[in-house]
Amino acid sequence: MTAPTLKIDNLKLGFKTFDGVSEVLHGISLHVRKGERVALVGESGSGKSVTARIVLGMLQALKTTRISGTVEFEGSDLERMDPKARHALRGTRMSMIFQDPTSSLNPVYPIFTQFKEVLTRAKPGIINVDARSIAVAALRDVSITEPERVLDSYAFQLSGGMNQRVMIAMALVNNPALLLADEPGTALDVTVQAQTLKLMSALVEKHHTSVLFISHNLGVVREFADRVYVIYKGNIVEQGSTEALFSDPRHPYTRALLAAVPRITGGGIPDIDDDSERFTEPLVAHPGFSEKELLA
Ligand SMILES: Nc1ncnc2c1ncn2[C@@H]1O[C@H](COP(=O)(O)OP(=O)(O)O)[C@@H](O)[C@H]1O
Ligand SMILES: [Mg+2]
Repeated sequence: MTAPTLKIDNLKLGFKTFDGVSEVLHGISLHVRKGERVALVGESGSGKSVTARIVLGMLQALKTTRISGTVEFEGSDLERMDPKARHALRGTRMSMIFQDPTSSLNPVYPIFTQFKEVLTRAKPGIINVDARSIAVAALRDVSITEPERVLDSYAFQLSGGMNQRVMIAMALVNNPALLLADEPGTALDVTVQAQTLKLMSALVEKHHTSVLFISHNLGVVREFADRVYVIYKGNIVEQGSTEALFSDPRHPYTRALLAAVPRITGGGIPDIDDDSERFTEPLVAHPGFSEKELLA
């Protein structure tokens, strides 16, 4: 049997404060099998983003964090890996899509330069013409009809929806084994967010990418995920197939989350009403690391 793409065991995370360590993950365990789409659902502040950041190795180096437990990627313990090898995974074997695409892109370089950086991580020394044709194809894959024009633009010249597509294309261009999607598009309007999910769905299906999909919205999760973990205050309180969870939620918190889901009539991705949540989290989240680091 092949190892799961991602396996997290008894993961604890604390942040050092003036009066000791404040624990925000209390020993969570989850896994994502090859090609599986797994959702991690919980309200704002429950510990979703920090989990994704640990998987990417973005919190381990901070002096203010205390981390224990194991994170295995394709059967290898990330802690035991050579830091260089671990760093090299980012943007190649695992990549991330953030909540706000425009602030995740670098404002001072045109899109093509950033695309090339991402491609160079997987293929050092790739030449411009090759990078360009790969980037054009990747942008066409996310239904961008004028890829050349987009490649020569800066993020601020493009709409939020366009930037989101660019981010998806970049995140998937190196054909990662694992995609971490942290509330993708929630900083954008609901139509764009729905489009984002559709595009992402189609692409991960095409490439058999494993996905850890982070959301506070169970309605979205129902459309996207095979399996769901519900996180509440740093603990996984319920898990199961999406079907089972929706038909027979066990934990009171899951029921509360479900009660907040708008009724869905017919198929397709429902309208997402998350104005309340849209700005609860700083977009460039916390000092000490930058989301742009991913693209570096
Ligand atoms: N760098 C940090 N320093 C201190 N506390 C943090 C830091 N990053 C996140 N936290 C805290 O960890 C908890 C989980 O945060 P987060 O994973 O961002 O939540 P969410 O589920 O909304 O993504 C929150 O209480 C948050 O305030
Ligand atoms: Mg978050």
